[in-house]
Amino acid sequence: MCGIIGITTGAAAVRADPGAASGDTFVDDASEHDGILGVLLEGLARLEYRGYDSAGLALVGMPDAGGLWRARAANGTRSLDDLVKRAADAPEGATAGIGHTRWATHGRPAEVNAHPHVDCSGRIGLIHNGIIENHVELADELIADGHHFESETDTEVLAHLVESALDTGRALGLADAVRSALGRVRGAFSLAVVHADEPDLIVAARRVSPLLMGVTGSAAFLASDVPAILGLTRDFFVLEDDQIAELRPGRLTVTAADGRQIEPARLHVDWDLEAARKDGYDEYMSKEMHEQPRAVADTLLDRVLPDGTLALDEVHITNEELRAVNKVFIVACGSSYHAGMMAKYAIEHWARLPVEIDIASEFRYRDPVLDPSTLVIGVSQSGETVDTFQAVREARRLGAKVLVISNVVDSSMAREADAVLYTRAGPEIGVASTKTHLAQIAALDILALYLAQARQTLSPADARALLRGMGEVPGKVAVALERSTDVEAVAGRYRDSPSFIFLGRQVGYPVALEGALKLKELSYLRAEGFPAGELKHGPIALVEPGTVVIGVATRTPIWEKMMGNVAEVKSRGATVVLVAGDGDEETARHADSVLWVPPTEHLFAPMVDVVPLQLFAYHLARLHGYDVDRPRNLAKVVTVE
Ligand code: F6R
Repeated sequence: MCGIIGITTGAAAVRADPGAASGDTFVDDASEHDGILGVLLEGLARLEYRGYDSAGLALVGMPDAGGLWRARAANGTRSLDDLVKRAADAPEGATAGIGHTRWATHGRPAEVNAHPHVDCSGRIGLIHNGIIENHVELADELIADGHHFESETDTEVLAHLVESALDTGRALGLADAVRSALGRVRGAFSLAVVHADEPDLIVAARRVSPLLMGVTGSAAFLASDVPAILGLTRDFFVLEDDQIAELRPGRLTVTAADGRQIEPARLHVDWDLEAARKDGYDEYMSKEMHEQPRAVADTLLDRVLPDGTLALDEVHITNEELRAVNKVFIVACGSSYHAGMMAKYAIEHWARLPVEIDIASEFRYRDPVLDPSTLVIGVSQSGETVDTFQAVREARRLGAKVLVISNVVDSSMAREADAVLYTRAGPEIGVASTKTHLAQIAALDILALYLAQARQTLSPADARALLRGMGEVPGKVAVALERSTDVEAVAGRYRDSPSFIFLGRQVGYPVALEGALKLKELSYLRAEGFPAGELKHGPIALVEPGTVVIGVATRTPIWEKMMGNVAEVKSRGATVVLVAGDGDEETARHADSVLWVPPTEHLFAPMVDVVPLQLFAYHLARLHGYDVDRPRNLAKVVTVE
């Protein structure tokens, strides 16, 4: 997601933290630009690793420039180079500034959408990480009041809400105005605001998205991530939900939502820069697995309306066109393909549409039969995988409607499609997909419910009940992640097994395939996934005493049949590990080891049930001493056929 940095020093110079470890020193590195500008540019460079598509900064307090000075650049991973060049024109003598790396969610990656955003007067500058759920209704209201918007972002409403609170006298100062603005918004955010009329002040706030602050000497600073300001300090203050911070040179005041002053929580960090980038986790994969509850929650955010219905604003296919769809094809590769397989069950069950699922590299060479009443759904984390891209392009050529699920806004596939539904997992650095996979399943599930809504195949009451169930998924994923140590113990028991068989039925089948793929990728061991009912048609010949079989045995409507298949391998001497719902002793009785998960409505269950299998692969790879972030022979984005 986006990166935030801000610093105020007043007229004083910035000094590095004397306790900084070598390599973490801050201001010394910012050789081309000193002071506030140097800190902002260096901090933004340190946020680059998270992935970004544009960058910008704003300065206030320059004696000769007046007002607020802003520079922005949107040139993909070269945005920061461009920003550094533009910063050469920055006026001297800023007293405070804010900087931002953007990873697009609302609005394409373009300079007009890069942060900071400003109000109508251009004197208030604001940066934001997160999603403002009700931005459309707020923007409509502000436009009716005469505000002028320049971007396609959800963020810009915040700048205008702050302006409006100040102009109408509803707020007495910048902090008060931010409080008033936040009273109007729904969603997840962290933000920082400067105002040309209060040039020493930065106001910051958060709800859900993290924000850290520090104070040293005559400076006060903030960032969304530790690496951005490591080297300025190791002692941070943590802003909690709905608190407002006022940062002034050498001073920090934090107030609660009701205006009461409070003592902020503290955090001391001993990490070096590399550890800080991983947020204290040993690897990016571990960090990203733990970001899964957030990835799912963000993907659902603002798509479920308060009345329980669904609104997918990136889907530019009318309900009438959706009702005319008579067949769906899903095309994808790897983990994205497995997410697509899970969606087949959901779309067929809820929307009563026939779904075919194709490996993208096979799709266009098999002469598929498509026409304008076919909906082709391309699923891709990167949006750049050439096999899926070509499949999507072929589908369009043949006249089908094309909808793309992508984690990267404005990716090649998104540009090729009639409609896009973005997952909001944030950039994924680990090569093996984890959080993007869960976000894809969440996006496909809401798409399935959307199709059902458009086609009136689900009653509003049933749809509402399902949406409530989906809202509980992030919490259940978090519980599954908390059991990492238990999974590690199970992985330890089977560390010497040379091969693994994964079994599942119905939605458990793609979960089994994904578990096998993760294990292959990370541990370089033979791992095959099968539909459990297919075993006796061949694969059961592989089973001998001691073969480790991992089964997804949570309660689907055909759980009994799954357990029948488990009995088949057990009676041939297999060692059985089962993923089972909490308290399900009946399932546990058939297992040598159990990977427990919170029980979940079966069509949403893949998002929860796959978590212990990700953890299993992760721990087994670590036990073998492998690099889980960069498995051999694999690339994060595959741009060759
Ligand atoms: C597995 C993995 C790959 C990708 C596949 C498709 O962990 O990451 O199998 O899922 O290469 O990539 P995207 O989703 O970018 O099209």
